[in-house]
Amino acid sequence: MATDIIMRIAGEGGEGVISSGDFLMQAATRAGMEVVTFKTFPSEIKGGYALSQVRISDNKIHSQGDTFDILVAFNGEAYAINRKELTPGKVMVYDFPGGDFEPEEHKDVYMYPVPMSKIAKFDLQAPIVKNMVALGAVSELFKVPVESLRQSIIDKFIKKGQAVVDKNLEAIEAGARYVRENIKKGDKLVFPSPTPQKNVIIVEGSEAVALGGMVAGCRFFSCYPITPATTIANYMSSMILKANGFVYQAEDEIASIANCLGASFAGVKTMTSTSGPGMDLMSELLGLGSMAELPVVVVNVQRGGPSTGMPTKHDQADLLSTAYNSHGDTPKIILAASNVEENFYLTVDAFNLAERYQMPVFLLSDASLAIRTEAIPVPDISKIKIENRVTYEGQKVAQEKFLRYLNTKSGISPMGIPGSCGASYAATGLEHSEDSGPRTNPETRNMMTEKRWRKLENIEEEYTKIETDEQQGAEVGIIAWGLTASITKEAVQRLRNKGYKVSALYPKMVYPVPVKGIEKFASKVKTVIIPEANYQGQFAQLVKAKTNNVNPVRLNIYRGEPFIPREIEEFTEKYLKKGVN
Ligand code: COA
Repeated sequence: MATDIIMRIAGEGGEGVISSGDFLMQAATRAGMEVVTFKTFPSEIKGGYALSQVRISDNKIHSQGDTFDILVAFNGEAYAINRKELTPGKVMVYDFPGGDFEPEEHKDVYMYPVPMSKIAKFDLQAPIVKNMVALGAVSELFKVPVESLRQSIIDKFIKKGQAVVDKNLEAIEAGARYVRENIKKGDKLVFPSPTPQKNVIIVEGSEAVALGGMVAGCRFFSCYPITPATTIANYMSSMILKANGFVYQAEDEIASIANCLGASFAGVKTMTSTSGPGMDLMSELLGLGSMAELPVVVVNVQRGGPSTGMPTKHDQADLLSTAYNSHGDTPKIILAASNVEENFYLTVDAFNLAERYQMPVFLLSDASLAIRTEAIPVPDISKIKIENRVTYEGQKVAQEKFLRYLNTKSGISPMGIPGSCGASYAATGLEHSEDSGPRTNPETRNMMTEKRWRKLENIEEEYTKIETDEQQGAEVGIIAWGLTASITKEAVQRLRNKGYKVSALYPKMVYPVPVKGIEKFASKVKTVIIPEANYQGQFAQLVKAKTNNVNPVRLNIYRGEPFIPREIEEFTEKYLKKGVN
């Protein structure tokens, strides 16, 4: 029987909730377990409700799960928010006595009080290690591989000094000792048995984007800090110098995309990252990228909007604004990652597509995915295909004069790299002729508009990453993108376990809409459902507008948190039960 445990640690920002979840995640991964994390916190630096959920299994898992099995409550607010989910069979480990609350009775819930604050403050003289006392208690109660836990703590805190490491390890032992001496375990929950660690690396969503950028050959990165995208810049700057690259923090998002376009013009692979408000600022220059045909990768880590909205919260509501964010007829490509591993591989793809088609290519991540940690198989970099732009020099086109915007059959023209003999041209936002000189006559305008769009004519055949999981005879097909796709995978599995036939499609390119793939998929089912974390049903709208007769049923949430699998499962089940047509 597979083990599948969800532990939710909840408390206040500043109490080390997030670190606790990360340590558990690392300890479990080091012990060979499958782990998915979910974290959410307010935009305050200190204070406000913070949650870190760790799901651990000995089988492959795709989502954070529906609820928790074990609640570790650091304070009264955490208890108050989660108490309605304390149903029979569940466990609560909580700060008592000495904490700020005393819970009421919960029938058939296993309640384990541990004086976390008291032990940290009075026994250890270090209130900050309250979270480690809790982890020590939890490791004793649920057989968390304590050696792996200790190692993770050493690795993280050693940069804060040996004294900090020692205090934290002491706190772990103090928590464990308290449980041994004072608590009789009644529940049966234990972590899976350790197995040798798989060939994996523990990576955060935004870190995966940075790693993908480095592998793809990004050597110039410019951005303006914005939650939740800034960590991409942090990771880039920790790596790029070693590859003779450069990170430049610009004065705003307008400057950062302008810097990237300039670097791209100079022949360098380049990327910027931002979130919704920053995307808005970039929109004029993104038009320049399309018009001047400059490769650039733009990562939009979506957050709750509009305006300042909810900077640390999940949303999938920037699809339309990314697709349509520039004036004029602006060709562009948008990819969306559904998990941490895809953040890595799709970033590489985004670079390849940008280089191949010479245009801005976008990667959509989101606030939840950006901070989700996953253990991903170590990528075999030797097998990753890297594409570079076609250059004038490389192609040796037989022509008297270099024509930067040569009207080729594919629409793709060799780029001249400034400084190379005979390759000079003006990368201009003005409409231009093949030689890049300004030209506005109708013939040139038509030719150039059609050339720019022709590059995308066969994009669906040329970028074939679309995950199809079909069942013959299925009446319902679910199409999901971004993080929702990984949650949908679990919902689909559960529905099948109940005996339903359900098909699923997970496009990685969400714009241009992969019309043929979607129409083919939709033709085999009676109803298409598109769950997405936005109010308008943004992908559903695009699918309806672009396809012939595919009119998806929409399932939308917009509360600032990702779906839980049960929501997609129950919604789909209703359709399956009542019979669809
Ligand atoms: N011993 C020593 N240090 C400890 C510790 C322990 N036992 N437990 C935690 N810490 C440290 C952590 O290492 C971290 O410091 P670091 O950043 O130097 O690594 C710090 O205490 C915070 O702990 P952490 O567990 O990471 O977070 P938390 O659960 O306490 O929550 C946040 C704090 C994450 C909510 C908050 O700091 C934050 O970042 N809020 C979002 C801010 C934001 O993005 N706003 C948007 C602006 S638009």
